[in-house]
Amino acid sequence: MQWKRRLAIGVLSLVALCGCATTGEQMATKEKSLYDRLGGKLAITAVVDDFVVRVAADHGINRFFANTDVPSFKAKLVDQICEASGGPCKYTGKDMKTTHAGMGVTDADFNALVEDLVATLDKFKVPEKEKGELLGVLGPMRKDIVTR
Ligand code: HEM
Repeated sequence: MQWKRRLAIGVLSLVALCGCATTGEQMATKEKSLYDRLGGKLAITAVVDDFVVRVAADHGINRFFANTDVPSFKAKLVDQICEASGGPCKYTGKDMKTTHAGMGVTDADFNALVEDLVATLDKFKVPEKEKGELLGVLGPMRKDIVTR
């Protein structure tokens, strides 16, 4: 009988330990938003600056931006990323479907833009976890942006 009791206590302790670990992890995630882990608005602005330079030099997709007001585009992108990552900003631009309607963006164009963003994130040594989370936030926008 003794061994059964020991086993039961052992199993219960394990369950309790796992429970605590999960709660701890959830708390840690709650405490630090992706926005904070990316380094806040200054860091996001630096990322967007570098990213836009890359897009402008990317001959595969820069034609799309030929008539774009770059400072306004950058400011909107910063607000959008800031808000989407849990930061205190409010994106006031148009929704993604309206913005990109009629542009004829293909999956290849979208992938090229994401590659430019990844190159920027790598340059700034954004860790894999945060990089994955940011791309995870932007990825679902593909369905509203790719129309061809
Ligand atoms: C996740 C991917 C993308 C995000 C988050 C995104 C986000 C945005 C935002 C926030 C704006 C500004 C909207 C406004 O002015 O109200 C914008 C504009 C624009 N986007 Fe995207 N975009 C994405 C993908 C793409 C792709 C793949 C292309 C083409 C290759 C593209 C081309 C453009 C262009 C040309 C404009 C400027 C429109 C203008 O001149 O007013 N975007 N985008």
